[in-house]
Amino acid sequence: MTDRPKLRSAAVYGKQDRDGFIHRSWMKSQGLPDDCFDGRPLIGICNTWSELTPCNAHLRILADHVKRGVWQAGGVPLEFPVSSLGETQIRPTAMLFRNLLAMDVEEALRGYAIDGVVLMGGCDKTTPAQLMGAASVDLPALVVSSGPMLNGRFRGETIGSGTDVWRLSEDMRAGLISETTFFSAEAAMSRSAGVCNTMGTASTIGSLCEALGVALPGNASIPAVDARRRTLAHLSGRAIVDLVMIERPLSHFLSRAAFENAIRVHAAIGGSTNAVVHLLALAGRCGVNLTLEDFDTLSRDVPLIANLAPSGKYLMEDFDYAGGMPAVMNRIAHLLHGDAPTVGGSTIGAVARGGECFNDDVIYPIDAPVNHSSGTWVLRGNLAPDGAIMKPNAATPALLTHEGPAVVFESIEDFKARIDDPALDVTAGSVLVLKGCGPKGYPGMPEVGNMQLPKKLLEAGVRDMVRISDARMSGTAYGTVVLHVSPEAYAGGPLALVRNGDRVKLNGPARTLDLLVDDAELACRRQALSPPPPPPNSQRGYVKLYVDTVLQADKGCDLDFLVGKSGAIVTRESH
Ligand code: FES
Repeated sequence: MTDRPKLRSAAVYGKQDRDGFIHRSWMKSQGLPDDCFDGRPLIGICNTWSELTPCNAHLRILADHVKRGVWQAGGVPLEFPVSSLGETQIRPTAMLFRNLLAMDVEEALRGYAIDGVVLMGGCDKTTPAQLMGAASVDLPALVVSSGPMLNGRFRGETIGSGTDVWRLSEDMRAGLISETTFFSAEAAMSRSAGVCNTMGTASTIGSLCEALGVALPGNASIPAVDARRRTLAHLSGRAIVDLVMIERPLSHFLSRAAFENAIRVHAAIGGSTNAVVHLLALAGRCGVNLTLEDFDTLSRDVPLIANLAPSGKYLMEDFDYAGGMPAVMNRIAHLLHGDAPTVGGSTIGAVARGGECFNDDVIYPIDAPVNHSSGTWVLRGNLAPDGAIMKPNAATPALLTHEGPAVVFESIEDFKARIDDPALDVTAGSVLVLKGCGPKGYPGMPEVGNMQLPKKLLEAGVRDMVRISDARMSGTAYGTVVLHVSPEAYAGGPLALVRNGDRVKLNGPARTLDLLVDDAELACRRQALSPPPPPPNSQRGYVKLYVDTVLQADKGCDLDFLVGKSGAIVTRESH
């Protein structure tokens, strides 16, 4: 190879001393020849493979294809594990550990003398965590996502991950389907390797990786088991070597313009509300000044054009066949920063120009969209002084402006104990309020904000109500749900002061959320408020560190001392 830049790995593996002997000798135990250490790029493959993260369980197979591309381009691939987060498996919530995984990734990338890295993740928190950790080190990096599962098929119908769990569960509770029918859908919904097949959080983040320019086109939508995903992995292996050779760190791509592109694409695809906290946290690592308000402002003129569950009809497999993200970006190209670079050596504008739509019922034209209202609404008022969010296209239009009496649940345990009580004083016009589910209070801000409706109302045909909490909700969920209320109740936010029967007023179009209780009464209630007990398991270890230092949702829920970056330099040797 010629014209190699001075590589980080060369400073370690090229040493002609005892340290160099140690570094090379142990690596040679894997059968690597001498010329692997002659100054060619060492490429890390940071893998969140785990059998406890089913959505990422095939990533070792895909990593083999990344390796082919790295070898072909003249690099040396070195795959390594980091911890993994199975969204549907780990408790109390994967979000509690996103920052732990980000720390794991950051220290591995800094500590090992690699020159660039391929981040292999997919299940909801894995990719955001990997990007956050990588941004704080700032090597050349790109993402290869798991890819979505095949469409679910059940009794002749297409069913989507998560979205149809919520629907079928409510149908069962309303007595419309039997338990046997409900449980029969389990295997039919998850038919292959890959992430949720709806536009849930994982597919949203996979899509935003394309919009941010940190993944190759097709990353979001090519099904996990499709041979073309292996090809994408192979091409990504080549691309990361190129990025190292032309010295393009992650910060070259993650600019303010890239985040603006991501927010606009997020609105066009009806992306998950969870992307808000992840993009805010990632921007914090990058030193990009991104605020909660940016999500509302930048998405106001972007209509929903992707007809995908949970906001629409189709699933990710259909999205891929319709043209995927390049087709979406083609249709909103005039709203994007076209000169933003991509890891494939192109620009967002060039990717958008190459995009073509093959099914207008899956990706609508921009002048006849699925919904003119999209994106993220950022609400403020005396109930959410630092903001709350809602997803208008997942809500019932008639409930976007609503006033009603609060039915308050002090904790998730209180909610589960009483929601189906026939004596619960609740009507379709009530506002369900759940406390204690924020970043510190739960801890970890779980996906419980789309509270199940009271059984007696479901049986009466009610299918949506206004729900308000400091929790998140699954990207696959829907409903008139106000989320991420900040500050959270545990941290003393006004949510803690709400009592049964208080009038709550939501005015979505005006972006307000208010508790109709006068200030003097609220001040009295605050005086009477006693400090909440510590959250479960928060007396020691990582959870204590998390509860002590986690930022509120409007800041992205990173740990306060992790914001920013430390770079890649390590000055001391290990022996
Ligand atoms: Fe892993 Fe949805 S649970 S992507």
